[in-house]
Amino acid sequence: MNRRKFLVKIANLIFIIFSLTLFSSLFKKRDISLEELRQTVQYRIELEEIKRKKFLVIYIKNDPILLVQSNDKIQALLLRCPHRGCTLYLDRERKLISCPCHGSLFDLDGKRLRGPAPTDLRKINYKIKDKFLYIYFT
Ligand code: FES
Repeated sequence: MNRRKFLVKIANLIFIIFSLTLFSSLFKKRDISLEELRQTVQYRIELEEIKRKKFLVIYIKNDPILLVQSNDKIQALLLRCPHRGCTLYLDRERKLISCPCHGSLFDLDGKRLRGPAPTDLRKINYKIKDKFLYIYFT
């Protein structure tokens, strides 16, 4: 191999490595900065308030969202039935979420216990930073 071919191969190799690095960075899941959170946040609430009240229903764009401490983890669940979209009812004493329309039943993790709802409840994205819980849509 002469010197010119060798240099061309090295240049191609550097180009491929650079392209792969750039391409993989496009799909890398990265942590959201506080500044980005502030730009996309839909709702902000103190963690202490959730812990104190145990169950909290908030509204974002007319959608009810349940914030609940369940199994040492906070769940943020959309209180809309996956069957036909009825607003769900929270039974605080039995710790169940039920649908008044056709009787679907869910636990506090959003897991479907009884149909006709075809799926579990939709979980809402949130991030915890500096003693606050931020709900955001990306
Ligand atoms: S809308 Fe909830 S079970 Fe049908």
